[in-house]
Formats: sequence, C-alpha cells, structure tokens
Amino acid sequence: MTATTGTGQPLLALENISKVYPGVIALSDVTLRVHHGEVLALIGENGAGKSTLMKVLGGVIEPSSGTITIGDRHYDRLSVLESQAAGIAFVHQELNVFDNLDVAGNMFMGREIRTRLGFMDIEAMRKAARPLLRRVGASFKPETLVANLSLAERQLLEIAKALSIDARVVIMDEPTSSLTLSETQTLMKVIADLKSDGIAVIYISHRLGEVEQCADRVVGLRDGHVAGELAKHEINHDAMIRLMIGRDLKALYTPPSVASGGTVLSLKGIKNAVNPQSRVNLDIRAGEILGVAGLVGAGRTELAEAIFGIGDILEGELTLAGKTFRARTPREAIDAGIYLVPEDRKRTGLVLESSICENISLADLGTVSRYGLVSQKAQLRRALAQRDRLGIKANDVMRNAAELSGGNQQKVVLGKWLSMNPKLIFFDEPTRGIDVGAKSEIYKLMRGLADAGVGVVMISSDMEEVIGVSDRIVVLREGRLSGELQRAQFSEHNVLKLAVGGN
Ligand SMILES: Nc1ncnc2c1ncn2[C@@H]1O[C@H](COP(=O)(O)OP(=O)(O)OP(=O)(O)O)[C@@H](O)[C@H]1O
Ligand SMILES: [Mg+2]
Repeated sequence: MTATTGTGQPLLALENISKVYPGVIALSDVTLRVHHGEVLALIGENGAGKSTLMKVLGGVIEPSSGTITIGDRHYDRLSVLESQAAGIAFVHQELNVFDNLDVAGNMFMGREIRTRLGFMDIEAMRKAARPLLRRVGASFKPETLVANLSLAERQLLEIAKALSIDARVVIMDEPTSSLTLSETQTLMKVIADLKSDGIAVIYISHRLGEVEQCADRVVGLRDGHVAGELAKHEINHDAMIRLMIGRDLKALYTPPSVASGGTVLSLKGIKNAVNPQSRVNLDIRAGEILGVAGLVGAGRTELAEAIFGIGDILEGELTLAGKTFRARTPREAIDAGIYLVPEDRKRTGLVLESSICENISLADLGTVSRYGLVSQKAQLRRALAQRDRLGIKANDVMRNAAELSGGNQQKVVLGKWLSMNPKLIFFDEPTRGIDVGAKSEIYKLMRGLADAGVGVVMISSDMEEVIGVSDRIVVLREGRLSGELQRAQFSEHNVLKLAVGGN
C-alpha cells in the first residue's frame, strides 16, 4: 500500500524505497509523497522505520532500492550536501551537535559565514543566530558553549539550526521529546509559520496529542512498510493507535493503587552545586509514583543527579529509611538501593558499542556473576527476559545497541535498571521517544514497583503523562519547589501555573 493522497504536483516523492541491513529489513517498498505547505506526520512503533526513511531523504543513508524525486530532479541516492542543497533541513532524533563549539558555530557548521578575506565572521554568525534562537523560544546565547546546554536546549538548537537553512522541507524527527509544554507550543507556532510560507514539514512524534494538533495528514509505518494514512478529518488518538499497532490499546494508564507507605527518602533544605538558588524540602514515600514537573531548566535533573551522587550537594540533609544519607558517587547510591534511569541515554545510560545483552547487565554485574566471574548464560537469560518484558525489537540480543532504533535504545536502558531491586528509583523522562504500546508497559512496570513498596519518582516533560501516571505531583521552578498537587487538583492549568509562576 502507498500513501498518495494530496493534491497537485508533489514537492517531493520517495518511491518504492527499501533498506535492508544484515538480518533486518528496515524499509520495504515504501512510497511517500509530500506537498507544498503541508504538515505530514509520520507515526509508527519503535523500530517501524521512520528515522531510516528520513535518513534516506536527508542523504545520511543509502537506500537498497527505490528513487527520490525532489522538485523535478530524480536521485537513486543523495548525499547529505545534495539533500541540503535541494532544500531539505533535518532535525535529527539523535541530536547532531558538537560539544566543543559554541551555539552559533554549531548553527552554521559547514556553512560558515566568512569575511571578504575568507576568515570566519564570528560576529556575523552570532548576529544571525540571535533571531533564530528567539524564534524557537531559547533563552541561551549564540556564544554559549554547547557542552553547557541541557538536552532540551540542544533540541531547541537543532530546531533553530534547521530554520537557518533556506528550506523547502523541514524534517523533524521527534523534535519535542525533551521539551516541556510551553516550548512545544512555541514550536507549534513555528510550524504554522513554516506552513503559511509554503514550506512542508515532516513531523515524527510519539506524542500523539502534538500530532493531532499540527498534522494535515498522517502516514503510519509498521514493520518497514506503509500501513495506511489518515486525512485531516480522520486524525484522532484512537485512529492513530490503530494505524500504528493494528488494534486498539486497552488502557494507557494503570489506575493508582490504594495507599502509599512511609517516607523512603526525606530531603531537608537541599541545595545542589549546579543551581545556587536551589533549596528543596520534600518527602518521597514508598508505594507512590511522585511526578516531578517544571519547565526546561527548572533543575529537576540536577536534583535527581545530586541525590544519586553525580554533582555535589552543598547544603541540607538527606535521610534514607531513618538514617542520614549522602551518596558521593553513583556506586554508593546504587549500593543503598537508589537508582536513576537517566534522561540522556547516549551520554550516561547506554554503551552504544556494546551488545544489548551487555548493556542490560552493566549496572549490576554482581548478581549475574558467581565466584566473581560473569556468567554468560545468566547474563543472556536476563537480557532475553527484559527484551520480552519491554518488547525490545531485536531478534538477537548480541547485536550492538547502536543498531537499535531510538526508542528501542531507551528500552534497553530501562531494562538495565528494572532488572534490579531498588528502594527508590528516579526515572528521568522514562518514555522519551517510546511508542504508545511500550509506554503503557512502562507505566505498568512503574506501578508494579510502587505496589511492591518502592518509591518511584518520575521526572517528565510530557504533561499528559505526569497527570495520567502520578499519585502526587511536585513542581520545580528555578531550583525550588513551587508547589505540590494532590490527584484531585491535577490539571494542565494547575501544573503550568506552578511551573511558570504568577498567573
Ligand atoms: N545500522 C543499523 N544496522 C542494523 N539495523 C539497523 C540499523 N539502523 C537501524 N536498524 C534497524 O532498522 C529498523 C528501523 O529503525 P528506525 O530507527 O528507522 O526506527 P524508528 O521508526 O525511527 O523507531 P523509533 O520510534 O524508536 O525512533 C529497526 O529494526 C532498527 O533496529
Ligand atoms: Mg526514530
């Protein structure tokens, strides 16, 4: 089946595209046409082939067969430069930024603005970067070093960079996966502007609410082929789920359990080294899922990291199960039963060049080894169990994690932590880039942990998720706790009010 609806001469066409890797058919005979000024959403489960298809269009990978037409030019394959020259801008799912350059340097990488004498014109690039950053709602400066940006800020940089190219088509592969509601709404405005300028946007997201808001047409991929498409008036949450997984999904959220237990960890006047304004008083209870909301930069990740022994706690007191506690390293936190499932899987959660199996065993070699030797069999058994539990799309768990799709990589990171026995576990954006089916599995797992008496803390920028999953929500603003909401008080409005302050 092909996706062909739409009127007039298409702006671009991908025809009969296949991509075969050893043992994996990533794309099979996919045809996709995109028209001027339309927002086309591409949806599908993790590993369905969305990023692969876009990388073919972006010139990043060579298709095994098929043709690409942009305007009136035909290509069997494209290079990255040809793709850019043809007017394709690409916001990558796995961000393509360089830590050692500043923001402006990243934005004009390979297209540097030069003086008449041929030197790089740093001032001109910074000047050109400023309005683009403003347009995407970024508060950092062109001269900031990228190494100092958070994941969300890097995502904003990637979007601003795409806007700096004089594009006919902008591909956005999960542009909002670490953005909060207000940055996402700014992006929705940017998309509407692009559209009214006649620019086409290809939008990939697992946040179906966003897709519903911005898409003119939805194409669903399933196992590397086109499963069908929805016209604008047919787009709704349930129809998209059916298109992605071929059936209805029963319930996304697991209902909250009865009552929570005693305090697992108590925070008194906690001030971390990253945020000098920070000061947090909070009790985290056994048996509850505590949602932590806040805008980008509110200090949610920093707080969890400080407790976990990454980054120092300058002042204040932590009490774990009645005793004073302070982890100086993650190892000490893990030994005390505190775990952190990190947000940025590439930097702290996942070893790309190791196998799926090794990654799952990485944090806890102790329990799979006997007499100090790592038991390969036990390691394998555990990896297979986690793969099946989380639905990681890989026949062979000995494959390198680098070969997995983005969402499947996230599942490997989760698998690693879930195979242990925590007292308290922090999930930092646990469903970033994860498809709806797997999301509901992860919510069930979190609920299962809470029901077993574990304290579960979920940091999330996905408003629907925070409200759907949490038993209690605390909101951080500029490093401080700005408020707490009980279930009866949950609403987007109330969360946002605490997150931005004022009214
Ligand atoms: N370099 C590679 N070698 C082998 N297989 C690969 C490679 N890159 C991707 N694949 C496989 O191709 C399939 C499609 O992956 P792709 O990244 O396109 O999925 P996706 O739809 O973008 O998923 P997600 O929602 O998780 O981002 C997956 O099964 C993936 O494991
Ligand atoms: Mg992808």
